[in-house]
Amino acid sequence: MFEALPEAKPDAILALMQIFRADTRPNKLDLGVGVYKDGNGKTPVMQAIKSAESKLIETQETKAYVAPTGSAPFCSAMIDLVFGQDADKSRIRAAQSVGGSGALRVLADLMRKSRPDAAIWVSDPSWPNHIPLLGASGFTLNRYPYYDAATGKADINAILSSLSGAAKGDIVVLHGCCHNPTGADLSADDWEKITDLLLEKELFPFVDIAYQGFGDGLEEDAMGVRLLAKRMPEMVVAASCSKNVGLYRERVGAAILMAQNEAEATRAFGQLTGVIRANYSMPPDHGANATEIVLTDDVLSAQWRDELESMRVRMVGLRQSFSDAMRKRSNSDKFDYIANQKGMFSRLPLTTEHIATLRDDHAIYIVGDGRINVAGLPEGEIDSLADAICTVMAESENA
Ligand code: LMR
Repeated sequence: MFEALPEAKPDAILALMQIFRADTRPNKLDLGVGVYKDGNGKTPVMQAIKSAESKLIETQETKAYVAPTGSAPFCSAMIDLVFGQDADKSRIRAAQSVGGSGALRVLADLMRKSRPDAAIWVSDPSWPNHIPLLGASGFTLNRYPYYDAATGKADINAILSSLSGAAKGDIVVLHGCCHNPTGADLSADDWEKITDLLLEKELFPFVDIAYQGFGDGLEEDAMGVRLLAKRMPEMVVAASCSKNVGLYRERVGAAILMAQNEAEATRAFGQLTGVIRANYSMPPDHGANATEIVLTDDVLSAQWRDELESMRVRMVGLRQSFSDAMRKRSNSDKFDYIANQKGMFSRLPLTTEHIATLRDDHAIYIVGDGRINVAGLPEGEIDSLADAICTVMAESENA
């Protein structure tokens, strides 16, 4: 059976996570995989979730099946979180999903049933797993340039020019906020321009929002989705609770669709239910159940929002400190962009050799494209980190 299979190519981010775990050096520093870390380098369970889990254990009376689309109150709370209370919910439907990745996959499978000949356009760069994950649904994948490394900003002219070559009906993946891996987000004006183009060329928006609340705030980070929802006739959104509810391993997310009208939304939701049933039958319950308790309880919801806001503010502070340290150490303003970017990631202009030297000689782990996890920056040791990075960069310049 398996003799014909070639060696699998390891996922770069997950492979780095394993190498880091196996490293026994006490001073090792993980700036790799995208998980939030506190000042002690730990990824804590949020207190609001702890309380919800206690409540869940005390009150849950059955573990009987829920449904392929999960819990309806959870889904409704997720629609409110992403689309806002004022959205026209008659034509929006959501299914609880196996994390944000599960949402991406089932939505791609759903669209493939409807538009098998469409291409999916993914930003270049993007989260590396977008490529195998969306490719597995069978769509042709195209890339659009996204980032201008010279300014540290999204390159709206390059984006528009590339997407203007898309064919009618093609699907465009947009990061809702906190672009992974660049941290360079679209401005409100950029979102308007992209929406103009989507409408003009009859393209279909597919938003991946995995970091809502990590950029400018929960409501602010939903600006792009909400702007699209006001102007576009239809769209889909993959939302994740991995980061903003800290439920990484529990696999909690939502696959949300907005159709042209109520009847179409109901029909598409029926098909989405079938896609889920054919994939894994039903999502796991525990994390979504705890999230539902948090989102539907005023006290726990306020506590969760406070905890999330502290995480966000901490990352903003770390960005500023690191950017300042890099300015001082490199004697240039070329790293100032880090302070202005959003969310968990920024990219450093490092070569493969720099990254290997930082890992081998300094026990500093950075993803191969230069992406750093801002939440992993070591409070109190940011100057020495900047020192190591600038030293390694300078050494190769002098070599
Ligand atoms: C990341 O980008 O590091 C996270 O989304 C974790 C993952 O699954 O790759």
